[in-house]
Amino acid sequence: MPYKRFILTREIIHGWGALKALKSVPATRAFIVTDKMMVQLGYPDRVEAILNEKGAECRRFDEVEPDPSLDTVKKCLAQVMEFKPDLIIGLGGGSPIDAGKTVWAFYEHPDLAEMEWDEMRRQLPRRSLRQKAKYVAIPTTSGTGSEVSFGAVISNHQVDPPDKRILFSFQFTPDVAIVDAELASSMPPDVTAATGYDALVHALEPFVGGPVSDIVDSLAVTSIKNILKWLPQAVADGSDVTAREKMHLAATMAMAAGTNGTGSLNHDLAHQLGSFYHIVHGIANAVTLDHFLVWLYKYNPEAQAMLAEELGMEVKSTRDGAQKLIKAMVELRQKVGLPGSIKEIGIDEGVFMSQLDRLIEYTLASGLSSQKPTPEEVKEIYLKAWEGAEPALPPE
Ligand SMILES: NC(=O)c1ccc[n+]([C@@H]2O[C@H](COP(=O)([O-])OP(=O)(O)OC[C@H]3O[C@@H](n4cnc5c(N)ncnc54)[C@H](O)[C@@H]3O)[C@@H](O)[C@H]2O)c1
Ligand SMILES: [Fe+2]
Repeated sequence: MPYKRFILTREIIHGWGALKALKSVPATRAFIVTDKMMVQLGYPDRVEAILNEKGAECRRFDEVEPDPSLDTVKKCLAQVMEFKPDLIIGLGGGSPIDAGKTVWAFYEHPDLAEMEWDEMRRQLPRRSLRQKAKYVAIPTTSGTGSEVSFGAVISNHQVDPPDKRILFSFQFTPDVAIVDAELASSMPPDVTAATGYDALVHALEPFVGGPVSDIVDSLAVTSIKNILKWLPQAVADGSDVTAREKMHLAATMAMAAGTNGTGSLNHDLAHQLGSFYHIVHGIANAVTLDHFLVWLYKYNPEAQAMLAEELGMEVKSTRDGAQKLIKAMVELRQKVGLPGSIKEIGIDEGVFMSQLDRLIEYTLASGLSSQKPTPEEVKEIYLKAWEGAEPALPPE
């Protein structure tokens, strides 16, 4: 059996009010990468107050947009190069954390920023980070788990439609993740639902793709259980401290599993839907998930049934288990008020159908899936997701 590797952020500080622990992170010059909403909520001010108290000087860039672009990263880089920080902090949802990771890599190796897109993506994993600065991630959504992942999702707008890709580097796992649910408690219900569903998919994908290892599987199962139980409550009552704490840590655990697991087609679909139609990442994941599971069933039916069993469902046969798992995913989507089809999101049908071949081509090139779908299979998934068709497994 081939050996496996499990990589994790060195220190994960979690719990209500954990932000205070930032004072224990060494820094003399700290650069915060964030967005305008964080500024409105006063979070960068709170971070700077903690750092100023220990004598560190701070600078911030607050222009990160959802699904950050390479252009934004380069704009931020110019300020980072001038400020010369010894600590970079990604503060916000996955967008500021990913933009911050990429800025960090470019700051360490400025030649990467000058390279052509594909060449930069090839070179990045070979470069070691942490020569100039350490990286702290402070998530404010309970979703992406970027605080423990070795990916950063960035869109290249030099091409049309933009090319949204995961930049990979095992060095990208931050030095410290501060997982403070108090910061997530300001999320409105729609952001809570979408980001929480994204976390669910991060945990689900490595398990159903074919169990990876006991470490990954146990993290995946615990986080899925907690998301099924607590996401509806976090959406219904955002002030519920237990629901917020359970969801915040579940998102981190889900990505600890996801980033160390096998890649899967659902994120290829979601990334391309997101970049073609600006669909919120968690919603893009949610509208394709049941159809993805039906497709995946032919590759690995047992894994879906095993997961259903692990989640405490009564499983009479492999097919029965898989069906129950898919049903639970659909029910959660409905309970938290996420759309059930691409059509429902409000995309124009003519535009969607005329771009479908291109969407399929980009999805196949997206490259996360460990199974190799055909263009016809991807088309079938997209058409079912467009309609919100009833997910039906093949007969026994
Ligand atoms: N690096 C990874 O491992 C990884 C994994 C999955 C997804 N992603 C990427 O992350 C991005 C999505 O990140 P996201 O889903 O966290 O959303 P986001 O960072 O794009 O934020 C979405 C919106 O929610 C707001 N928001 C964030 N926290 C808030 C809070 N506490 N209160 C109120 N509003 C808040 C933001 O300001 C923004 O308007 C996508 O680009 C996705 O592809 C990365
Ligand atoms: Fe995701």
